[in-house]
Parts: sequence; structure tokens; C-alpha cells
Amino acid sequence: MEKFTETEINQEAKRLISLGLSQSCVSQPLKEIAELTLKINNLKKEKNAVICAHVYQLPEVILGIGSVIGDSYKLAADTIETQAENIIFCGVHFMAETAKILNPEKKVYIPSKNAGCTLAESIKAEDVKKLKLQYPNSPVVTYINTTADVKAESDCIVTSANAEKILRKMYQKHERIIFTPDRFMGANFAKVLGKTIGKDMILWDGTCVVHEKFDARTIKIYRDKYPGLAVLAHAECPPELIDEVDFAGGTGTMMKYVENTNAAAYLLITECGFGELAKMKFPEKNFIAMCRLCPYMKSITLNNVLDVLENPSKEFEVNVPADIARKAKKSIDMMFELAA
Ligand code: 13P
Ligand code: SF4
Repeated sequence: MEKFTETEINQEAKRLISLGLSQSCVSQPLKEIAELTLKINNLKKEKNAVICAHVYQLPEVILGIGSVIGDSYKLAADTIETQAENIIFCGVHFMAETAKILNPEKKVYIPSKNAGCTLAESIKAEDVKKLKLQYPNSPVVTYINTTADVKAESDCIVTSANAEKILRKMYQKHERIIFTPDRFMGANFAKVLGKTIGKDMILWDGTCVVHEKFDARTIKIYRDKYPGLAVLAHAECPPELIDEVDFAGGTGTMMKYVENTNAAAYLLITECGFGELAKMKFPEKNFIAMCRLCPYMKSITLNNVLDVLENPSKEFEVNVPADIARKAKKSIDMMFELAA
């Protein structure tokens, strides 16, 4: 492995600082981070790899090594454009699987074996088959936070960025929709669209371990303390909390809301990585912390990314059986069509 000079490491540390990283937002000395990002970025070129980083990742992963940075929708859409032979996915497993389904000829790696998701674990393909038998003629709209097998049994995939738009379009043709697996997200969009749960929308019982635990009562305390506060929450939060916020959406639309408004302060109710990134992107704005960590997202580190690039072994490679991938791709393509 290439050794870097003190000058090269100092220059890299300066680059990281210019991107907004500071010692206070990283858990290792900045010079150690600089050495790792130098190695990773060199290997990235050498191995013709692209690094996709979700906004919940560690700041040093997003800003230090990310080639494509964004929400689930952007990460899925942008991988289609990449010319790289290898995709290193800094996010969770279902995101890497989606990248593989959309890029079957490329090698996709996820640097951690612990990058799961409670929503993806909440439902199996068999469950979707049973729902279809129970509610015939009702299309299955499935959140992207699911395994490839579940996507393969679904009619259309949505992300937090496009679920409202896609559901609205689908209700023009269908009386009833089966929405899986996030019961909070389903209930939140059912409310916006004026639909009744149990009649117009059938829900599955999945939740996100990070977003289900936020307590709506805390919002009032913050509003009293910070006049002019804008409260934003991810659509995976419980409906009683969403009732109290100024904006609910996905990480992509939440970031746009922050960019396009000028509130006295912002309360961001989502995974902590989002707030850290918002602070770095908009240092002039005032952010109030109310966040929780996603243990799955945070299982990716610069060290395990480096390991995968140095030794891209089969155990970190993401593969999807061809028949499942073909069926899952149909439902993902339906999302691209309806979200356009
Ligand atoms: P976004 O697509 O909004 O980034 O959501 C992904 C996710 O896992 C939220 O918990
Ligand atoms: Fe899954 Fe929740 Fe983590 Fe997002 S934040 S990856 S939905 S567990």
C-alpha cells in the first residue's frame, strides 16, 4: 500500500476542511482521516470504482470519498449513469441490491455485513403473495426499503421523494392500493391523499427503528424555546408526529426545503447524519438537534471501505438471482416512469 508524505496528508486534510469537515464532526484525528481518504480515492481511480454515499453516512464518508451523494432515489437513478466497473455502496443492503438490479453487468460491493434495515427485514416475498391473494386486483406499491424478492412481487416501487406523486397517479386507476412495508409512511401519505386505511389503502406492519421512536410531544418544547422554528421530519415518522411538523418528506426534499427557506432555526427529525450534512452545507443556518443514529448506516466506515477496495472479496459482493432481478427491475422501472 502506497505511503503518503506529510505534505500530501496535510494537503488532503486542508481539502477535507474546505469541504466542511472539522475535528468536531469526525471521531478520528483529521490527519488519520486524510490518510484514509487519500488511499481510498487513489484506489477508487485505480479500480475504476464509483462510491455511492447515502446522506445518513458518516461525514468523512460522504464528503471525503463519495462520488454520488444523495437520497435513495438519487442513488438508484445515478448509478445507471455510471461508467465505472465497480460500485461501492456506502448505505444499506437494499440500496446496494437496487444498484445491482439496475446494473447487472457491474460488480456491487457493500463494505459492512451489518448494513441491514428494519423495514427491509419486516416483510418477505411470501407475505406479499398472501396480501395479493387476500386483496386481488389491488396493486402492490412498495417502499424501496425492501429486499429484491419483495420488490419482485410488487407492482411499483416508491421512495420517500416520490411516494405521494406515484400514489396519486395510481389512485387514478385503482380504488385500493396495498402499501408495504412502512405502516407510518403509508398512513402519512393516505392522510395527504384523503384515503382511508383498511378501505383504500392496505398497510403492512413494518416500521423504521430510527424514526418510529421520535416523540411528537417534544416538538412543542422546541417551538416554545425557539420562536420561528421550522420543524421537518422524515415521512417514516409516526403520523401523530407528522401532524405537528411544517414539512414531511424524504431526505432529498427535506434538504431542498432547508435550502429554499430562511427560518430562524430548523429542527430536523431524522437520522443524525442528515443534520450533520445540513450544517456543513448551510453553515449560516441554525440547526437544532433532535436525531437518532441508524446503527445499520453507521456500520460503514472509511476503514471497511478501504478493506473492500483493497480486497474485493465475494463475501462483500452483492448479487441478485437473475429471475428475481428481472421481476424487481420491472417494478423499479415503473417507479422511474411514474416519478418522471
Ligand atoms: P431517503 O430516501 O429519504 O433518503 O430515505 C432512506 C431511508 O432509509 C430513510 O430512513
Ligand atoms: Fe432502515 Fe430506518 Fe436505518 Fe433508514 S434509518 S436504513 S429505514 S433502519
